[in-house]
Amino acid sequence: MAIQASPEHSSIPSLPDRLDGTHLNLGCGSKRKPGFLGVDIGEGSAVDVRMDVMQYLRSLPPHSVQEIYSRHFLEHVEGRELHTMLLEFDRVLRPGGRVQVIVPHYSNPYFYSDPTHRTFFGVHTFSYFCDRSSLRRRVPRYTAIAGWSLVDVKLGFKSYGKPKLLGVKLPTLSSLLNLLVNRGALSIELFERYLCGLWSIYEVSYSIDKRRD
Ligand SMILES: C[S@@+](CC[C@H](N)C(=O)[O-])C[C@H]1O[C@@H](n2cnc3c(N)ncnc32)[C@H](O)[C@@H]1O
Repeated sequence: MAIQASPEHSSIPSLPDRLDGTHLNLGCGSKRKPGFLGVDIGEGSAVDVRMDVMQYLRSLPPHSVQEIYSRHFLEHVEGRELHTMLLEFDRVLRPGGRVQVIVPHYSNPYFYSDPTHRTFFGVHTFSYFCDRSSLRRRVPRYTAIAGWSLVDVKLGFKSYGKPKLLGVKLPTLSSLLNLLVNRGALSIELFERYLCGLWSIYEVSYSIDKRRD
């Protein structure tokens, strides 16, 4: 059962026994990463703490979290609040901590069908928030968070259906693209630049490490 927190109070809610609160799954809805504490404002079945993410983060002491995971949540945060939220990630993360973010890519048509989506993401979005990046293209660093390194970016392709022949699943163009395009930074950057208008990228995943010292 989710622990409810009143919006007026920012005290830390008590956690389920199985978790120590060092691994957070923000905006988890009904899918929680195993071993992670599910935080969500809604009533999804995976929610451990029912609370606004920003309010929950603000209730935590600095350097109290080892890993933050969020899937299909940050696109719901207004662009100008996103940077503030990421600074809050940084405040609560321990040195050596990790962030993994998965969001819809801007070429995903479903991204634009959802009126609750506020912020769009491309391959390079987190390069702007990190002072080091594994990508080749250099971007301005005026929003970079000191000590953040973008260590990995992956694209996710998804087929509309799951074709089968005599009960056997057939490979799809999306499954091939997942293998081929994710071989390295160059193929990822070139696919977005020249081909995502022909075959949309469903989602993009970023892994960020916070420096140890
Ligand atoms: C598209 S769902 C994704 C759910 C799940 N992560 C998944 O991958 O299926 C977005 C989730 O973000 C939650 N959410 C949106 N804004 C929030 C906020 N400010 N604080 C907490 N949760 C929020 C919603 O309640 C919803 O469960």
